[in-house]
Amino acid sequence: MNIVLCDSPEQAIRFAADTICRQVAARPDGVHGFATGGTMDQLYQALVPLQRQYALDWSGVRSFNLDEYVGLDADHPMSYRYFMRHNVFGPLGMQDARTHLPRGDARDLEQECRDYENAIAAAGGIDLQLLGIGKNGHIGFNEPSSSLGSRTRIARLSQDTLAANQRFFPPGAFQPQWAITMGIRTILESRQIVLLALGEQKASAVAAMAEGPLSAMCPASALQMHPATTVVLDPEAAQLLRLKDYYRSAYSPGVPSP
Ligand code: GLP
Repeated sequence: MNIVLCDSPEQAIRFAADTICRQVAARPDGVHGFATGGTMDQLYQALVPLQRQYALDWSGVRSFNLDEYVGLDADHPMSYRYFMRHNVFGPLGMQDARTHLPRGDARDLEQECRDYENAIAAAGGIDLQLLGIGKNGHIGFNEPSSSLGSRTRIARLSQDTLAANQRFFPPGAFQPQWAITMGIRTILESRQIVLLALGEQKASAVAAMAEGPLSAMCPASALQMHPATTVVLDPEAAQLLRLKDYYRSAYSPGVPSP
């Protein structure tokens, strides 16, 4: 892992946004893997104005999102499709037909999972996959105990995740308990991965991911097996790492400097 220690959340967000813009500039017909969540929301808010400075054309970019809630249709305001359409795809000028999220309201969810894997393969795989991380070390909705060899599937959300995501659902409203998520193996097949983590609530998951054992108990630790992952951290998310001096000295150029 290339671990990039930034001086502030703003710098970490800018670093991740720059990495995405450089990728689109280099490959305007590339395949992007998008993620959702509060951290990604902050990233997209920075990405939209920044990509104008880069004068990027996103109309040829194809994308696949990591996951979607089961039981919400695409027009539901809490669905990831709705969020992406309004906050990312539209503002970036992406073509709706080139964007993909699993359909959480599909009649045959198992078939939807197979179709999603096939669609990623047919697109030639994902060039750059963005990731956040859950407080319990999840990536996508691969919760602790997920198989490190898993593929796109229906996954039950853990109590930790349900509690963390409660803030997005009005009191009394239906909150999904299940999701369709890319599997860990699916994620590991991306050619490049950028994981962004901010804040002290992510510190123990980040330490387990980068310095703990490879274990299904911390699904993000599977990224230790990936040859081209960049982990971008603010000081609070990095605070429990033991090898900070090493990461500073080993910072590998080729990606923008923080
Ligand atoms: C959800 C998403 C994950 C994301 C996580 C962290 O569970 N499925 O992909 O990494 O939230 O979100 P936040 O950035 O809000 O902490």
